[in-house]
Amino acid sequence: MNRRKATPASIIKAAALLRAGGIVAFPTETVYGLGADGLNPEACARIFEIKGRPRFDPLILHECSAARARKLFSRVPKPALKLMKRFWPGPLTLVLPKARAIPDIVTAGLPTVAVRVPANPHALALIKAARRPIAAPSANRFGALSPTSAAHVKNQLGGGPDLIIDGGRTRIGVESTIITFARGRPVLLRPGGLPLEEIEKIAGPAVRPGKAEGEAPPAPGCLKKHYAPLARLRIIAPGQKVKGGARAGYLAFSKRPAGRFRAVRVLSRRGDLREAAAGLFAALHKLESSGARLIYAERVPAHGLGRAIMDRLRRASAK
Ligand code: TXA
Ligand code: MG
Repeated sequence: MNRRKATPASIIKAAALLRAGGIVAFPTETVYGLGADGLNPEACARIFEIKGRPRFDPLILHECSAARARKLFSRVPKPALKLMKRFWPGPLTLVLPKARAIPDIVTAGLPTVAVRVPANPHALALIKAARRPIAAPSANRFGALSPTSAAHVKNQLGGGPDLIIDGGRTRIGVESTIITFARGRPVLLRPGGLPLEEIEKIAGPAVRPGKAEGEAPPAPGCLKKHYAPLARLRIIAPGQKVKGGARAGYLAFSKRPAGRFRAVRVLSRRGDLREAAAGLFAALHKLESSGARLIYAERVPAHGLGRAIMDRLRRASAK
């Protein structure tokens, strides 16, 4: 059994494993991460094997303070500094020119590195005790639904990680927002747990990838098909009439649908986007394991966390 509750003792054990080149799945405030020593290329290589992830998709480094995280970059533009001060620890990943010490396998050979400071006490304690940056993608199989509980990790990766630290359900429920900079302006590489509106208040209006002069390509890992449940997923308007039945699942935003379905999940009865994001992957995992062949998913308002929810639903629905 490689799953243990998050306690001071299990965190110390996990940190020792990481220092010795082991792989530890751990909770963050967004989703569970599959962690390795970010300065150890062989350990990082195991992450790709366990996930079945292509090597061209770079990893995020996790640090336990903004001061330490900053050292992983060789250059930090002013507005990025403001974002760090305001939002770390939190669900924000910054992509900036990398420091020399960072191995190529972490960045997939790119001149930039993705870094964040997670707002989860177990994650912070683990990174601190490991005394090094921890490389961690989401702890799912490549292309599958992201894990928001230790059970999700166990179901997908089994005995792959040396240890799974169980810190309960993750609070935010969708991955971090990824931001880079082009000519001093923020560029959104992936919508996520920190609403873009909040970022723009601090760093000014964002440009879309590829639209900026100085061109930032989209995140290499932001493939069209990603975060996919095993069933087919179709996005519909709230309340839209659809053919239900024993083979169909339904993911509602705030109201239960009329008609019969194999399984129904309502993301937030009060129509709250934060609550909806927090329960999104758990709901999709449930609908998937109900045996439904087709999942209808209602569109949600595309502002705040709704942007991240719609991004994940669109990827899940891509064929
Ligand atoms: O919330 C999160 O960000 C979670 C938790 C565990 O921290 N991590 C996560 O990692 O979602 P992952 O590997 O599933 O997604 C990281 C994304 C990938 O799409 C990758 O391509 C992109 O970040 N990325 C990493 N380094 C990059 C870089 N240098 N330039 C552009 N994109 C990068
Ligand atoms: Mg992922």
